[in-house]
Amino acid sequence: MASMKKVKVELAGRSYEVRVGAGLLARAGLWLKGEGFSGRAVVITDTTVGPLYADVLRQGLANAGFDVTVLEVPAGEEQKSLETAGRLYEKLTAAYTERTTPVLALGGGVVGDLAGFVAATYLRGVPLVQVPTTLLAQVDSSIGGKTAVDHGKLKNVIGVFYQPQMVIADIDTLKTLPEDELTNGLAEAIKCAAIRDRNLFNFLDINMNKALQAHTGVLEEIVLEAARIKAEIVARDEKETGLREILNFGHTVGHAVEAVSGFRLKHGRAVAIGMMVAAEISSRMNLLDAGDVARLEEVIVKAGLPAQVPDLDKKEVVRAMRHDKKVRQDRVRFVLLKAIGNAFVSDGVDLALVEEVLVGWG
Ligand SMILES: NC(=O)c1ccc[n+]([C@@H]2O[C@H](COP(=O)([O-])OP(=O)(O)OC[C@H]3O[C@@H](n4cnc5c(N)ncnc54)[C@H](O)[C@@H]3O)[C@@H](O)[C@H]2O)c1
Ligand SMILES: [Zn+2]
Repeated sequence: MASMKKVKVELAGRSYEVRVGAGLLARAGLWLKGEGFSGRAVVITDTTVGPLYADVLRQGLANAGFDVTVLEVPAGEEQKSLETAGRLYEKLTAAYTERTTPVLALGGGVVGDLAGFVAATYLRGVPLVQVPTTLLAQVDSSIGGKTAVDHGKLKNVIGVFYQPQMVIADIDTLKTLPEDELTNGLAEAIKCAAIRDRNLFNFLDINMNKALQAHTGVLEEIVLEAARIKAEIVARDEKETGLREILNFGHTVGHAVEAVSGFRLKHGRAVAIGMMVAAEISSRMNLLDAGDVARLEEVIVKAGLPAQVPDLDKKEVVRAMRHDKKVRQDRVRFVLLKAIGNAFVSDGVDLALVEEVLVGWG
């Protein structure tokens, strides 16, 4: 039997496990049965992931005695909408879903956020199992209970905290992931390492090529360690009133860059740029050693991510940041580094310094 490792997300009364390993999809049915579920199960997936992985998940569930319904939505961020959620509620009603029927979110962060939102709200909440199939979803979005849909141009504005019963991260699914998507997920793994874990950072540095080739052992280690970091942070601050904010490292500038690029730039790439800007600001404020800035850049470049601000209007980026809810009187809340592996939230970074770093970047 393939190996499986566990990370526990410790939440008072509602702790759950992240299970990481190869060949796990087929075992999900038995695990759900072991958790006391029986009868029906609903799998929500997308039109790319469904044809690849819904069958093996369905078969495992059927073998464990479940009556399985698979619901597919088209792949893509546009599906994170109230319209699609509405269609899923209709189908859940047609599938006679009861309050005890588990919903399994099989896919990347889009499916995880959408199916999570639907599970959180349908019948005031039905059990949710996250089955992430992108690196980004395995290291980041499937853990921690943030669910949401987009509204108009606004991302993740309608949502709710809703923790899953279990997270099943099957590393084998990453074999079919386009390299571009692997790179995207690596940005979040680098982020986890940079804010909390120098050992993981060193591991990424040494093993980046293998990671990009979807090497099972290397990806398993990355997912496991990043999941540990996220689980620990979420357990200490479930609703993001403090510590959890450090997970936004690279995201303040990242979101602005993403928006100014008209979302042509993928999230992970924008976050990589944001991490470099945050590191440079930390260095100019004499908080972070120049050697650590250089190491961060090295690892980001190894992952195939940009460490330079691309051809964007930088003043526009600063303007986009000014609209951020974290800005007050031209000072912005910012996650900075004291060292690789040690992040903190600063209340007041001067927007002028952010602009200076962005513009002076070349
Ligand atoms: N809830 C959170 O805490 C949180 C955190 C970070 C990001 N997010 C959200 O996550 C979303 C992005 O997630 P994503 O990057 O996983 O994107 P995604 O879900 O769109 O997946 C990317 C693409 O890869 C395809 N795919 C997925 N798994 C595959 C596989 N194993 N093989 C081949 N193709 C596969 C998908 O169909 C899709 O086309 C955004 O909506 C973002 O807001 C949420
Ligand atoms: Zn992110």
